[in-house]
Amino acid sequence: MPSPTIENAPRIIALANQKGGVAKTTTTINLAAGLAELGANVLVIDLDPQGNASTGFGIELANRSLTTYDLMVEDAPLDLVIHQTGIERVSICPANADLSSADMEMVANEKRSFLLRDALRQPSMAEFGFDFILIDCPPSLNLLTVNALVACHSVLIPLQSEFFALEGLSQLMLTVREIRQTANNDLRIEGVLLTMYDKRNNLSQLVAADARENLGDLVFKTIIPRNVRVSEAPSYALPVLAYDSASKGSEAYRALSLEIAERYGMKQKATQGPN
Ligand SMILES: Nc1ncnc2c1ncn2[C@@H]1O[C@H](COP(=O)(O)OP(=O)(O)OP(=O)(O)O)[C@@H](O)[C@H]1O
Ligand SMILES: [Mg+2]
Repeated sequence: MPSPTIENAPRIIALANQKGGVAKTTTTINLAAGLAELGANVLVIDLDPQGNASTGFGIELANRSLTTYDLMVEDAPLDLVIHQTGIERVSICPANADLSSADMEMVANEKRSFLLRDALRQPSMAEFGFDFILIDCPPSLNLLTVNALVACHSVLIPLQSEFFALEGLSQLMLTVREIRQTANNDLRIEGVLLTMYDKRNNLSQLVAADARENLGDLVFKTIIPRNVRVSEAPSYALPVLAYDSASKGSEAYRALSLEIAERYGMKQKATQGPN
């Protein structure tokens, strides 16, 4: 398999938006699957006590005895918290409700904002050969999300194509700026992704135009359409790319994966297609 893409260190991308239900988890799962199709070795970090990414990859609750909580707070070894998913080249560090108490327990820790960064940047991570680490954040700007923003190289912001979509964005951008000034100077915006786009709906078109006017090139070229196959896939514990490979949703998440892969020198692998 191809060598790791980014100077032998994985590119860490946090998927964040404090607004609920904007497709953070859906995008994490399907971007992981899309990058893996292009030959990348991907680790998903489920950082949400809801554990939706873990469920979406079919990790049973019984198999989540060690989770992202243990990785951050208990220094659990990587090989005990990382599971292979049913998708080739996609691994996951799962979550369960334990993470909801992490917020409180971390407050007393003077390294509270750096726990995930230190866990992900420990030397033994290199043995796994991950090219990308995708962090699925909870719908909040709490200490868990702060940990993700401190740990990552860049943040991908899903934006649901509906009214008020841009309203919460300024708060998130402010948090990103604060973290850039303090704990993570190189933090970048990977991009803003329009999700659940309905081309027959004028509102979707207005939100897209508004986003492009206000955010310019920060908005990904790829737009994710509303597609029922995307919403059905998690109940089969599969990314939509595996559940219905030819669906509009799969096509869109493949395009997004390519858009991101090309930024990190994976173009050649991309044109070779899945292997
Ligand atoms: N492109 C799409 N087409 C149709 N349904 C979608 C699409 N993307 C996401 N959904 C559905 O929208 C709902 C919210 O998506 P998702 O759980 O990914 O959002 P989230 O931002 O992770 O939510 P939370 O804030 O609760 O973590 C889910 O039921 C999902 O199946
Ligand atoms: Mg989610």
